[in-house]
Amino acid sequence: MMKLSKINEGIYKYKGEYYTHNSCPGTTHHGEDIISEGGDEYRHWDPFRSKLGAFLKEHGALPIRTDMDILYLGAGDGTTVSYLSDFLSSGRIFGVEFSRRPYRNLLELSIKRDNIYPILADARKPDKYEDVVPLVDFIYQDVAQRDQCGIFMKNVWFLKEGYKGILAIKSRSIDVTRSPSEIYKEVEENLTSNGFDVLEQVDIGRWQKDHRLFVVGK
Ligand SMILES: C[S@@+](CC[C@H](N)C(=O)[O-])C[C@H]1O[C@@H](n2cnc3c(N)ncnc32)[C@H](O)[C@@H]1O
Repeated sequence: MMKLSKINEGIYKYKGEYYTHNSCPGTTHHGEDIISEGGDEYRHWDPFRSKLGAFLKEHGALPIRTDMDILYLGAGDGTTVSYLSDFLSSGRIFGVEFSRRPYRNLLELSIKRDNIYPILADARKPDKYEDVVPLVDFIYQDVAQRDQCGIFMKNVWFLKEGYKGILAIKSRSIDVTRSPSEIYKEVEENLTSNGFDVLEQVDIGRWQKDHRLFVVGK
């Protein structure tokens, strides 16, 4: 009997949890649960480990298509990148990370998965990677820095006209002394005053403390 149900292109569900089709069978990223079905593997997308996984859990869908090119700022060791790699059956991820240690894992991941392009660079200096990143359909940012909005603004020119992005905002990284709601309000104002439509705000505090994901349109 089938355990998983396909809820959207690239996304599967079993007992309230979300899964991606493992495009690199026989491997996991961090020892996540695997369901084997019909000769294929499906990886559990843990909302405690991935903010985009938490977004999915809260929202039930992603604002991303499986054929998109994504610029990912703050790719870390590739946890979320690995799920996007499964999800993007005909898209690519350009992952920017400035810290060498997580970058090493990201690089290893990109050797096993051919839709990941790792870039060792500071997302505050997009001129350093403008030659290797094309115009993209989506920007996903998760940098946990004080100037999170400013970093996003520096990279928006990679975004094709009319496309979208997600900013994962960690309120404590902006100011630990102020309330998260005050900070989210300020982020919203900052984005709208820079010409963005804030399409949605998804609070993922249940899985990732003091985090909210802003879906923005250009
Ligand atoms: C919260 S972790 C990312 C986790 C990752 N997004 C995931 O879900 O798998 C934030 C990452 O952003 C990186 N980072 C912070 N500021 C950055 C910058 N200016 N340029 C590039 N990477 C940055 C950090 O080194 C860290 O690895």
